[in-house]
Amino acid sequence: MTSNRTPGSALGSTPQVLAPAKSIGDILVATGQLQPHDLQSILEVQQREHIPFGQAAVALKLISEDDINFALSKQFDYAYLDAEDSSVSPQLIAAYKPFSPVGENLRALRSQLQLRWFNGDVRRKILTVVSPAKGDGRSFITANLAVVFAQQGQRTLLIDADLRAKLQNSQQALFQMPRAAGLSSILAGRGGLELGKLVRGLPHLGVLPAGAIPPNPQELLGRPVFDKLLKRAADMFDVILIDTPSGGDYADAEIIAARGGAALMVARKNRSLVPEARALSARLQDGGVTLVGAVLNDA
Ligand SMILES: Nc1ncnc2c1ncn2[C@@H]1O[C@H](COP(=O)(O)OP(=O)(O)O)[C@@H](O)[C@H]1O
Ligand SMILES: [Mg+2]
Repeated sequence: MTSNRTPGSALGSTPQVLAPAKSIGDILVATGQLQPHDLQSILEVQQREHIPFGQAAVALKLISEDDINFALSKQFDYAYLDAEDSSVSPQLIAAYKPFSPVGENLRALRSQLQLRWFNGDVRRKILTVVSPAKGDGRSFITANLAVVFAQQGQRTLLIDADLRAKLQNSQQALFQMPRAAGLSSILAGRGGLELGKLVRGLPHLGVLPAGAIPPNPQELLGRPVFDKLLKRAADMFDVILIDTPSGGDYADAEIIAARGGAALMVARKNRSLVPEARALSARLQDGGVTLVGAVLNDA
């Protein structure tokens, strides 16, 4: 995945300076990956070879690179799921492999979106993720972006507004959530304005699943209760990301994006047709939606 830079907009990364809370050694002892008596031999190698603590521990075959990444994530208070943890889908690469190239790209995209849209203004908390066709990776990118925003400590809500997707392609499946009422039943007036469930292991992330597929998605998305729901979400969260059905097939994405005011365009490398993406962008802009950026998904 690479992010596509729109000409003329301010770009760059926003480095975060975080103070380490604990040493890597303390964290690895606390989580049982190292024994207290290992520390001395690691320190000896570290001093003799002039290498970092983690590298010395790996050289002694006491821990793996993964253990170090895990400890680093804890040191910087970074939510990270262990590869053994199967509570969400392995497709949430940002959660399982935050230090992979995909994780890096997602964080770069997060920085760009922060420069261009999420600037702390209460009217700029909602971003709708759109793309021309099925399979472009909207759901993948929305889910992983939500994870990286939450990892930064931002209260993040992912709303699955693709009321047309089969269960296996839904955010409910990606986050392996139990069957629950979702957006469709809220819009249909059944149940209150409950804003989804928090994701285990990813402290700042909430997900509102799409719920059962309704017969009239577009009509539901046009109801005023959707605005109420978004206003409530904006009171409780810093970042709200909305997943949508393919923009080339339905008008749903335009209706949804118009509510939040901004969209991120996803295009799949070698697959998304440029004219289709252009046509969708033009329709969004005609509807008053700000196109905050475009991502070329080259999975
Ligand atoms: N960057 C990527 N890396 C790995 N797999 C990806 C990537 N983008 C999409 N996929 C996979 O491609 C498939 C279709 O993506 P999905 O997000 O469901 O598409 P959409 O929501 O646009 O219909 C899914 O299985 C998804 O996990
Ligand atoms: Mg999808």
